[in-house]
Amino acid sequence: MTGAKTNPRKLRSQRRRSRHGCWNHLIVAPLWVAYDANLGTLLRTCDAVGACLAVPRTEHYRKALTVGDTLRGRRPCIHWVAPTKEEWLAEQRAAGRRLLAVELADDATPLPRLGPAREPTVLLLGHEHHGIPDQVLAGVDGCVEIPMVGWGASLNVAVAGSLVLYRLAGLS
Ligand SMILES: C[S@@+](CC[C@H](N)C(=O)[O-])C[C@H]1O[C@@H](n2cnc3c(N)ncnc32)[C@H](O)[C@@H]1O
Repeated sequence: MTGAKTNPRKLRSQRRRSRHGCWNHLIVAPLWVAYDANLGTLLRTCDAVGACLAVPRTEHYRKALTVGDTLRGRRPCIHWVAPTKEEWLAEQRAAGRRLLAVELADDATPLPRLGPAREPTVLLLGHEHHGIPDQVLAGVDGCVEIPMVGWGASLNVAVAGSLVLYRLAGLS
């Protein structure tokens, strides 16, 4: 029979039995994202696709992730961004990771043309109102843009990040 919902227990038994370790291959970095609900949504997407989450080591992010954690303690690997965002980004680059910004920008790659991540990648997401700071955008290795045909200027940041993560993880 088709169309019946799969039993959640059966679903879990088909997936990994414990939370994933740090693969360091795909790290989503919502370094400017302000709203708790968006951070909670991104945490769940990281779990779903096997990505790590990187956030600044501040009380705001700590609290947001505690409130938004619906994974019953089995949340994905979290990287604490310190001492500053700029220094952390420089470290990622020095470690050989590609910095990819999710942003509406000139010369951005449209999402349908983005392939699965073949190299270690840090995915940057911007602030709900101000986006990714210009000086950061100027230093990334590439931008990816999600085409839109509607009237709205942009997508919700957690939706945008999730769409790109699925693509990079090779699951869509
Ligand atoms: C609500 S948007 C920010 C809009 C802001 N007014 C601006 O001018 O950048 C928040 C973040 O979501 C992501 N985003 C939203 N829609 C997007 C799209 N269509 N393509 C790529 N990124 C998008 C980007 O990371 C962006 O910084």
